[in-house]
Amino acid sequence: MDYAESLNLSLQEQLKHFNETLITPGSVKIAGRLVRMVGMTLEVVGTFAPIGSRCQILSHDLPPIEAEVIGFNDDRLFLMPIGDTQGLSPNARVLPMEGGVKVGVGMAMLGRVVDGSGWPLDSLGPISVEKYVSLAGERINPLSRHPITEILDVGVKAINGLLTLGQGQRVGLMAGTGVGKSVLLGMMTRYTNADIVVVGLIGERGREVNEFVRHNLGEEGLKRSVVVATPADDPPLMRLHGAMLATAIAEYFRDQGLNVLLLMDSLTRFAQAQREIALAVGEPPASKGYPPSVFAKLPQLVERAGNGSAGSGSITAIYTVLAEGDDQADPVVDSARGVLDGHIVLSREIADSGRYPAIDVESSISRVMVDIASKNQLEQARKFKKLYSSYQQNKDLISVGAYRKGTDPIIDAAIAKQPDLNLFLSQDISENFSIDDSLTALDTALMS
Ligand SMILES: Nc1ncnc2c1ncn2[C@@H]1O[C@H](COP(=O)(O)OP(=O)(O)OP(=O)(O)O)[C@@H](O)[C@H]1O
Ligand SMILES: [Mg+2]
Repeated sequence: MDYAESLNLSLQEQLKHFNETLITPGSVKIAGRLVRMVGMTLEVVGTFAPIGSRCQILSHDLPPIEAEVIGFNDDRLFLMPIGDTQGLSPNARVLPMEGGVKVGVGMAMLGRVVDGSGWPLDSLGPISVEKYVSLAGERINPLSRHPITEILDVGVKAINGLLTLGQGQRVGLMAGTGVGKSVLLGMMTRYTNADIVVVGLIGERGREVNEFVRHNLGEEGLKRSVVVATPADDPPLMRLHGAMLATAIAEYFRDQGLNVLLLMDSLTRFAQAQREIALAVGEPPASKGYPPSVFAKLPQLVERAGNGSAGSGSITAIYTVLAEGDDQADPVVDSARGVLDGHIVLSREIADSGRYPAIDVESSISRVMVDIASKNQLEQARKFKKLYSSYQQNKDLISVGAYRKGTDPIIDAAIAKQPDLNLFLSQDISENFSIDDSLTALDTALMS
């Protein structure tokens, strides 16, 4: 059904709009008119299009500009442009496009770097598309998802040993700026035993995209990866789409029966893009300037990762979450904790002390570890954390010499073991520890 039919317009009414109407075979589309632009929001009258659909804005001598319907008020539509708005003029014609937003995906995306619309950013030529999928994804019945039973090797011993991740798990990587998120993500991309890695670089600095692809990912890592990059200077809708596209690509590979590792840097920038859009259409801010729709969008994105139904592969997802000023009570951090199956916290204090990766094992948790790790490993991990924590809790006393040896056997053991525990938690960028290597290293660290 086309727009005119769906609104039951009489023939006369349609004729009245004739001048504003563009006829294509089998459909009648009524073009609207751009009447106002405030910030990034365009107000359009005279046409009808559902939320989430796309429109083309036609100016005289410019290529069409695409915009997405993000809201409405009475007969006014609010649109947000997907690309550059340079050259937009009042009264430009706005033409709704058919169908939902689809994106092309395919095996040829491997080794490529694309933008939020799926266009190549590298200079390796066009990418052949196998099929078009919905940007918003298809919902999977939660009961038909197969449970998390297999371990995913990420090549980092502190995670493999103490915070074991399962195939299909979704975890947050909570950290402030500059404490080693990108380096850690790069290590996981290169060393994981996942079949495919999809990296979404959302809203970060443009310079970082190149740096991540060249240094953190490297040639070897890029071969089995797809990178979707929407840097901070992209319009908010593009950044939102970047995160959704990365997820759609991961879904495509999962549906081919492959185990995918999806790395999203960062979920906070995704939330901030949604905040910009929601505020632009007049939604009132609630928590720390974030309107409520942000907290509805987060689970919508995150729920798309995970295991598929029987026969398909899995998407294990790691979302970095910026704890601004290392504030763990930030509303996005809080909300992410609730929707994810675990979190790995990177600590500035640890990074400042020179230990990388700066994983704070006391504050981190993998909620599925108990289901997938062996009894022996769980026992060793528990022992490790107990020794590590008792040292941390008494660190001040120990460092000023106020603790007297022999007072508490656990603290004595913790002090004796501290160098071994720290050695286990440190890992050089170029080192790869498989699950087996990690467990051996854990046993060695705890050997008395
Ligand atoms: N495993 C490691 N070994 C040695 N140094 C490391 C390691 N991980 C991180 N670093 C150091 O920390 C610095 C910052 O790391 P990185 O760029 O990954 O941080 P980030 O959290 O991604 O920062 P931003 O918030 O700016 O994106 C690196 O330049 C590097 O010097
Ligand atoms: Mg970074």
